[in-house]
Parts: sequence; C-alpha cells; structure tokens
Amino acid sequence: MQSNRESIHGTWSSRWTFILAATGSAVGLGNIWKFPYMAGDNGGGAFVLVYLACIAIIGLPIMLGEIMIGRRGRSSPANTMKILAIEAKASKAWTLLGATGALAGLLILSFYSVAAGWALSYVFNGFQNITAESSTASFNELLSSPTSLIFWHTLFLVITIFIVARGILEGLEKWINTLMPMLFVIVLLLCIYSTQTGAFFEGLVYLFQPDFSKITPEVMLEALGQAFFTLSLGMGAIMAYGAYMPADQNIGKTAISVAALDTGVALLAGIAIFPIVFANGLAASEGPGLVFVTLPIAFSSMPFGVFFGTLFFILLSIAALSSSISLIEPGVAWLIESLKIKRITATLGLGLVAWSLGILSALSFNLLGEFTIFGRNFFDATDFLTNQIMLPLGGIFIAIFVGWKMKKEDVLEELKIKEGLLFKLWYFSVRYISPVMVGCVFLYFFF
Ligand code: PHE
Repeated sequence: MQSNRESIHGTWSSRWTFILAATGSAVGLGNIWKFPYMAGDNGGGAFVLVYLACIAIIGLPIMLGEIMIGRRGRSSPANTMKILAIEAKASKAWTLLGATGALAGLLILSFYSVAAGWALSYVFNGFQNITAESSTASFNELLSSPTSLIFWHTLFLVITIFIVARGILEGLEKWINTLMPMLFVIVLLLCIYSTQTGAFFEGLVYLFQPDFSKITPEVMLEALGQAFFTLSLGMGAIMAYGAYMPADQNIGKTAISVAALDTGVALLAGIAIFPIVFANGLAASEGPGLVFVTLPIAFSSMPFGVFFGTLFFILLSIAALSSSISLIEPGVAWLIESLKIKRITATLGLGLVAWSLGILSALSFNLLGEFTIFGRNFFDATDFLTNQIMLPLGGIFIAIFVGWKMKKEDVLEELKIKEGLLFKLWYFSVRYISPVMVGCVFLYFFF
C-alpha cells in the first residue's frame, strides 16, 4: 500500500511547520502552569526525575509512533486507525483508539479552558504593588467567583472554536510561529529575575535534588500522566498533526526536537518559579494557583514589569490556545469525515460539550466545592481521569499497535530508515518497554 497517501487536508509546506505546530500543541499550560505545581505538590526533585525518565523512555518513543501512524494514515485519528488496521489486517476495533482519544481531548479541553481562562484574566492584572499575601488573595478571589470563572472560560473556548471552525491550516500557521519564541524569551527573563531573589539556589536544589523516599506509586502515576499530557500524547493530537507532515521529513529527529523544546520550557518555568516561591515564603505545594500567585509578585517588582507581565499572560493564553486547538481537532476532523457535516457544525457541537463540562469544573472551585468523585472535585477528577488514565492507556495501545500490529516493513517504509541500532532500540521500546512500564505503574497504583 502507498505510504504517501494524499492527505485529504493537504500537507504543510515547510519541514519547520510540523515542528512548530506540534510544539505549539505540546507547549502550553502543561509546561508553565501544571508542571511547576505538580512538581511542588509531589515533593520537587523526585517527581522531576521520574517525569524526565517518563519523557525519555516512554513519551519519546510513543511520540515517534504516533507521528508515524498519523502520517501513514493521513486522516483524522479515528479514520487513520481504521485505515491502518485494515492495512495491517488487524481488527477494526482499533478505530476505537481514535474515538476514545477524541473523547479524552474533549474532556481535557473542558478543564483546560477553565485554567486558560485564569491566564486570560491575568492579562488585566495590573502587576503593581503585589505581595505574597495580596497575590494569594487575588487568586482565591478569582476562584471564588463563579461568574468570573465562567466568563473567562467561555471567552477562551469561543476563541478556540472560532479558530478551529475556520480550518486548521490557515488558523495555525500564521501567528504561532512568531509568538512562541517571545514566550520563551520572557520565561528566560523570569529565570534571570529569579537569580536575583536570593533563593535561586534553594529553588534549583528543590527542583533537581531527588529525595528518593518521595517516589511513591502516586508520584509515578502523576509523573507518567504529566509526561503524556505535556507532550500531547495518547489522544491523537500529534497523530492528527502527523497527517499533514511532508512524506520526506525525518520523524525521529522531529520527535526529539518537539520533546526537547517542550521539556526545556517546563524546566525553565520551574527554574523561574521555585526561587520566587521560597524567596516569598510561599508553599511549594500551593496547588493549581502556584504560577498565578508567584509570577505577579515577580512582575510587580521588576523594571517594566507591567509590560512584561501583561505580555507574558497574553502569550501564555496564546500558547494555551495552540494547545486547545489540538485538543478539539481530532474530534472535529473525525465528525467531518464520518458524518459528512460541516466543520463549523462539528466544532460548535463539540465546543458546546466542552463548554458545559467546563462549567462544572469552574464551579468545582466554589458552588460545587462539596461535590466530589472518589475524593476529587470535578476539575481534579476530570484531570485525573484524562491525564493519569486515558492518555497513558491510549499511549499503551499506540505502542502495541505500532509494535505488534503494523507490519515491520510498513513501519520501516514509513520511517524511511534501515533496520539499524536506533530503530531496534525504538522498536524494542514500543513493543516491550513502554507497554510494560505503563502497565506496571497502573498495577502499582491501583493494587
Ligand atoms: N500539551 C498541552 C500542554 O502542555 C496540553 C495537551 C494535551 C494538548 C493533550 C493536546 C493534547 O498544555
């Protein structure tokens, strides 16, 4: 069967476009908001170590597999799985992997949009005369207001829907390319600021000195889930983008670039944030508010802080937007292809579902605070179900499909490489290491 099947969406022109789009999907709230707060909640260095190991040993190989599947299928993730299952003479039930991925994306989008709404609202923070107490108080005030949370969540989702409804290629290429490097520069600037806080070293030690006694099954599952979440793996986002990748682009190098950029941004965010936490006597285990409490303190005390603070939260919102687009796209593309409905109808329909669920997430910080599912509020429960369960499970199945179902010749043909050492290592990883390790973390956690 032809490997460079014509994509029904066309392919991207330059090789950088895929890297930039995939990085746009990967770099988002996961790096700047979630990574630091999860590291803080899980004891710092131990979590970071397991997280980095999960990225390198499990995430990267699965990312390669996911891009490869996407490019070979050249369709929406669900249809790609169907096409490749037929090619591999495997069961058509593999289509379900695309479908559950689309569902995971929708569920993630519902709470992602609430957190992205916080970032949007911080654009108007003002960044003046902020102390640790006043910063904590303003974040808590935001959380306690159902109307504010719902307003910003709605605004963020409307922007996402607008862009996706217009079509992915035009929607993406234009601005992400120029804006993401700017976000990177401001994060670097924050790191420089942190060297001046007097607690820089303390921050680094916290982040990079692992206390092995803190590695519990829970920390392992959290780090594993975060690795999938931050790389946008296990639900079809990267697969959907792979469908636009030029046939002659090297998938291995591309996956390494995306994973390295993504990990770099997360680590820099951590390096920027923890010194501010310690210098201001805040708790590392502050929870989801960590970035929103710490960074305004930094901006309010640096030269041109109002400018940098405002720009930072604008760029963070845009980074979140380029991720949220990829959360909804697999579902939208699937609906368009299988139900033959218009893009705008598909986007509005799914957007409405994400919006409604997002309202429950927003209210879980105030009115619905008492309502819990297995001890977690709605926001945390959705986060747990998707990131810690659905994404790693999706990842296992992607690895199994690539390693055990697809014909090895087809895999080699799509990767356009010979069966060398690197290929063997990767193939061993998707066949054995990734499924077994994810399986062990699950067993360890649940039993
Ligand atoms: N990787 C994105 C982030 O870190 C979130 C995301 C997860 C996007 C899964 C797409 C798919 O913010």
